[in-house]
Amino acid sequence: MQPIVLKSGLRVKIRQYEHPRDFEGVAEINRLSLRVSFNYLYEPFSRKSPDLFLVAEDTTKFKKIGFVLVDINGLRGVKHSSLIYAIAVHPDYRRLGIGKLLINELVQRLRTNHVKIKTIYLHVQETNEGAITFYKNYGFKEKTFLKKFYSWGEGAYRLYYEL
Ligand SMILES: CC(C)(COP(=O)(O)OP(=O)(O)OC[C@H]1O[C@@H](n2cnc3c(N)ncnc32)[C@H](O)[C@@H]1OP(=O)(O)O)[C@@H](O)C(=O)NCCC(=O)NCCS
Repeated sequence: MQPIVLKSGLRVKIRQYEHPRDFEGVAEINRLSLRVSFNYLYEPFSRKSPDLFLVAEDTTKFKKIGFVLVDINGLRGVKHSSLIYAIAVHPDYRRLGIGKLLINELVQRLRTNHVKIKTIYLHVQETNEGAITFYKNYGFKEKTFLKKFYSWGEGAYRLYYEL
């Protein structure tokens, strides 16, 4: 895939995660952005569904600036679904359109390579207003609210997107 040039002039490439060379860069974004570490899933998920674990790279600096981590097995008990475990963009690169590029590429790959999958699910912390706005602006819809979903007692919205 050719780099995409954003309005800001930033050149971004969305590509498949490669283990282990991308591990540190993705783990750093995870650490800076999310309360939960998903490091233990990078290697198994990159084997299970390599085309769906995506990394955004600033091609000028060769720097990892975002990722989306997806479980092809989806939500437990819901056939033909996939589940976004995590999406994060490096704090210095937010509101530039990179999150949207990651979801665009994911949607395109699901529609092309995994035609049986009909829905993307995800969970978002009830207080994460920025992410909730991001998902809803993209077209995700609210399915349900799950009280005390997280180990620290916070609730989550379960959102979905029809492919
Ligand atoms: C959520 C996240 C991935 C969005 O990535 P991003 O690259 O900043 O998002 P984009 O630039 O593609 O945003 C697209 C649109 O979503 C909306 N949006 C994104 N972030 C927003 C925010 N913090 N507040 C309000 N709206 C927001 C805007 O409409 C934006 O378009 P605009 O900038 O032209 O107004 C990023 O903020 C992030 O990494 N957050 C920390 C980790 C996190 O919370 N992940 C989700 C866990 S469930």
